[in-house]
Amino acid sequence: MSNITAIEVPDIGDFDTVEVIEILVKVGDAVKAEQSLITVESDKASMEIPTSIAGIVKAIAVKVGDKIKQGSVMLSIEPSAAAPSAAAPATASVAATSSASNASAPAAPSASVAPAAVAVAAPSASVAAAVTPAAPPAGKLELPTSTVGLPHASPSVRKFARELGVDLGLVKGSGTKERIVQEDIQNFVKQALAGGAGASGFAQGASLGGGLDLLPWPKVDFTKFGETTAKPLSRIKKISGANLHRNWVMIPHVTNNDEANVTELEALRVTLNKENEKSGIKVTMLAFLIKAVVAALKKFPEFNASLDGDNLILKQYFHIGFAADTPNGLVVPVIRDADKKGILQLAAESSELAKKARDGKLAPAEMQGGCMSISSLGGIGGTHFTPIINAPELAILGVSKSYMKPVWDGKQFVPQLTLPLSLSYDHRVIDGASGARFNAYLGSLLADFRRIVL
Ligand code: COA
Repeated sequence: MSNITAIEVPDIGDFDTVEVIEILVKVGDAVKAEQSLITVESDKASMEIPTSIAGIVKAIAVKVGDKIKQGSVMLSIEPSAAAPSAAAPATASVAATSSASNASAPAAPSASVAPAAVAVAAPSASVAAAVTPAAPPAGKLELPTSTVGLPHASPSVRKFARELGVDLGLVKGSGTKERIVQEDIQNFVKQALAGGAGASGFAQGASLGGGLDLLPWPKVDFTKFGETTAKPLSRIKKISGANLHRNWVMIPHVTNNDEANVTELEALRVTLNKENEKSGIKVTMLAFLIKAVVAALKKFPEFNASLDGDNLILKQYFHIGFAADTPNGLVVPVIRDADKKGILQLAAESSELAKKARDGKLAPAEMQGGCMSISSLGGIGGTHFTPIINAPELAILGVSKSYMKPVWDGKQFVPQLTLPLSLSYDHRVIDGASGARFNAYLGSLLADFRRIVL
């Protein structure tokens, strides 16, 4: 004899009847215990009714629009071998639309069947005769308080919208009484991906990976205003421009500005250059900066890392890039294993790489593998600026022109050669306090370079 079990509407509290607005399964579906079967609606709210047993859906006894009440048979299920007996108490949780916002609405139990694809089957007489009633879900199904003001949609559709970050308030419903069905959300997302008007309808925090919904670039006939000539961008500018654009748009930059007292360091640099005059190697501020950055990366290892999805790839090597200004545009040569090199070697190598960059002779390998970059504009000018992080690195140090600053020592103002440091960092990984600590530590090293050996 068949063991087919009728699934009845459980206690629905104060409501005599509720209307079936969605059928979430179809004949032949395998359902799990507590999986939602149908969505019903009172005049105030909607809720999903789950099954208390697992098995195969054999017949569906209701259709959209039916008014049902406690004890009405919704459908019949042939229990799976592992399913609890019909008489066994089942715990059923009901997810109902509450008056909370999308973001805080309770998560509905997963109902993976797309309502749009559901076929409403008429109950089969023979099945109906053979069925035994299943225990309704334990406890009373509490209908939520009013949903007035909320878009009309069932809990599973709300959950679907939440998962995709869609603001339901912007979706037009195609169901009865303008109810939003799953297909409406799918169409909304398709339209948004195609750059349609809905692109900005995604809830805050949702990402479409580049769907910025910006105005088109202004198209202007400049000859209306005066004489012009067109100059194509260099190959380097086109490549670096695209990279800078991506990095600026995709990385949440924060720039921490600080200053370092480099009075003693500059004096040391000048002395070293005098001593090394014959060697032909010019000791540069950049070489000291590279050394200091390596020491700071060792002290703050999360800066010497890259994001890879949800993982932070921590690096145990110290390759430092530096921005080099060339006639064709900006390039970033990389000094490998800077931690293993002394100031003279770093100075020699950076000037050699900068010359190669200006001559357009850098090999691709000489611009790869950087852990962090330095952009030194100190030889040119400026007070502070916001350097753009060179992805997939997490930080970049911008250096502006040092200047003499009068600093009060408690008794008098003394001149202090001051170097402006602008540290941009990726705020997804590095928080403000760490950024400030890193930059302050760099400043302390530059102020007293003996600290580098500590
Ligand atoms: N403050 C004041 N003067 C500075 C300085 C600083 N922070 N850094 C360098 N200088 C001075 C040097 O003392 C030197 O002066 P001198 O000729 O009287 O000795 C002069 O500027 C040139 O410095 P040098 O050390 O030879 O070069 P550099 O280290 O400044 O620059 C490069 C080397 C490759 C970084 C540089 O040529 C370059 O390309 N900079 C531009 C980087 C860039 O475009 N960044 C923007 C990216 S968004």
